[in-house]
Amino acid sequence: MFKKIDKPRIAVIGLGYVGLPLAVALSEHFVTIGFDTNHRRVAQLLDGIDQTLEISTAELTQSTLAISHCLDDIAQADVYIVTVPTPITDANQPDLTPLVKASESVATVLSKGNVVIYESTVYPGATEEVCVPAIERSCHLRYNVDFFAGYSPERINPGDHEHRVSDILKVTSG
Ligand SMILES: NC(=O)c1ccc[n+]([C@@H]2O[C@H](COP(=O)([O-])OP(=O)(O)OC[C@H]3O[C@@H](n4cnc5c(N)ncnc54)[C@H](O)[C@@H]3O)[C@@H](O)[C@H]2O)c1
Repeated sequence: MFKKIDKPRIAVIGLGYVGLPLAVALSEHFVTIGFDTNHRRVAQLLDGIDQTLEISTAELTQSTLAISHCLDDIAQADVYIVTVPTPITDANQPDLTPLVKASESVATVLSKGNVVIYESTVYPGATEEVCVPAIERSCHLRYNVDFFAGYSPERINPGDHEHRVSDILKVTSG
């Protein structure tokens, strides 16, 4: 049975066009840490530089968002939000490798009662058919018993500073 998490600590996995603005917005309300496997990206963000130009240096330096490339640093999170890329293969098929790798990483730090929310763009069914099984294969926790999952499709429009992540209504599931 899912128990309400009173003061969720949030980890955002993948700090690109989607993940960084989301993490910065969430950090205004919750303890939030952003995680990215790209050490160079992490170093730049820690220096206040967002090469995607979605977040200004002033916003980054004033934000309480913590940023890391170290998995141990996100181990205390209650909610994991996955915003890694979903490229396509040469045959125009979705390449879910980054999502599977991110799911396996999350699995190594996942605890009972945690929630994993996928925000990357995928086809219907991919969350329960590909992502959640990747977690279950990599840890001893069971879906909908020990941990829970959701899907929250990203609707941002890069470069549009008028309609930002906190202004966009969307349909989510969990
Ligand atoms: N950019 C957009 O306009 C937009 C709009 C709607 C939906 N989306 C979707 O959102 C998702 C993210 O897109 P984006 O544009 O932010 O991508 P991006 O390439 O800008 O950023 C992705 C980040 O994830 C990191 N990453 C990759 N694998 C990782 C892993 N295993 N663990 C941790 N970090 C990892 C990368 O280093 C990179 O910094 C994609 O599925 C995309 O289709 C993007």
